[in-house]
Amino acid sequence: MENLVLYEKVGVIGVLKINRPKAFNALSREVVDLIDEKLEIIKADEEVRALIVTSDGNFAAGADIVAMVELGPEEASKFLFSDTFNKLENLGIPTIAAICGYALGGGLELALTCDFRIASEDAKVGLPEITLGIMPGAGGTVRLPRLIGEAKAKEMIMLGGQIKADEALRIGLVSKVVPKEELFDEAMKLAEKLAARPKLALKAAKKSINNGREQANAIQREADIWSGLFATQDQKEGMRAFVDKRKPQYVGK
Ligand code: HXC
Repeated sequence: MENLVLYEKVGVIGVLKINRPKAFNALSREVVDLIDEKLEIIKADEEVRALIVTSDGNFAAGADIVAMVELGPEEASKFLFSDTFNKLENLGIPTIAAICGYALGGGLELALTCDFRIASEDAKVGLPEITLGIMPGAGGTVRLPRLIGEAKAKEMIMLGGQIKADEALRIGLVSKVVPKEELFDEAMKLAEKLAARPKLALKAAKKSINNGREQANAIQREADIWSGLFATQDQKEGMRAFVDKRKPQYVGK
């Protein structure tokens, strides 16, 4: 069977790669469960001093729409990725998302759980869930406004458009943009710099910054609101339309 998530150590740097290129690295439940398994391995490994999360081609084009189309609210709430994403956010080592190609929906939400985001010039990021009759459900409505401010986050979430790497840099969504062939090396450089900092102080600083967010309730409430949308006709229509490759006809029910 295809190995959907790859993990390797390069010296003291962990490298986690999503490997589902045919579906633009869309995040299925299985992919997220595998990420979770790897995170447990990383947590238990004292040697790993920083983590890079990346993919080849496209970072991740969101949660797997095919797997979500027919879910009801309860199933949708089980499908959600919040536990794994929270685990990544609270990992005791610095984390870097190295983003190339599309980082959309749950894919961008995955990158938002990392401490740093570096993008290649071809990166396109967005939260297009609204165009499917739903909204972001893996922390996007909570983490994005905090990072880039409410007005810009509302524009991205409520219009559902994509932005290019230079615009992502301008609004502070990513901290650096580099040519595609330099993306991994650039992420490695940052990871190595971070790995050379004193580990306990680094962990404490990250914990203290994350503590200031006090967002656990907001993430849970987002999950409840998100799952509720799976009782609507618009969610079914939006996702069926994507699968059928046609324009959705929304009815507001
Ligand atoms: C399942 C996906 C997918 C996705 C792409 N594919 N994104 N499959 N889930 N999220 C599949 C397509 O069905 C297609 O498969 C192949 O990948 C290539 O996609 P195309 O659309 O043919 O390519 P292109 O025209 O280049 O467009 C690329 C794209 C587009 C812009 C990334 O695929 C797209 O808009 N994808 C959906 C993005 C999205 O809405 N993400 C948010 C999902 S909701 P075939 O078999 O036809 O070749 C979400 C909620 C998270 O993330 C909340 C937590 C769970």
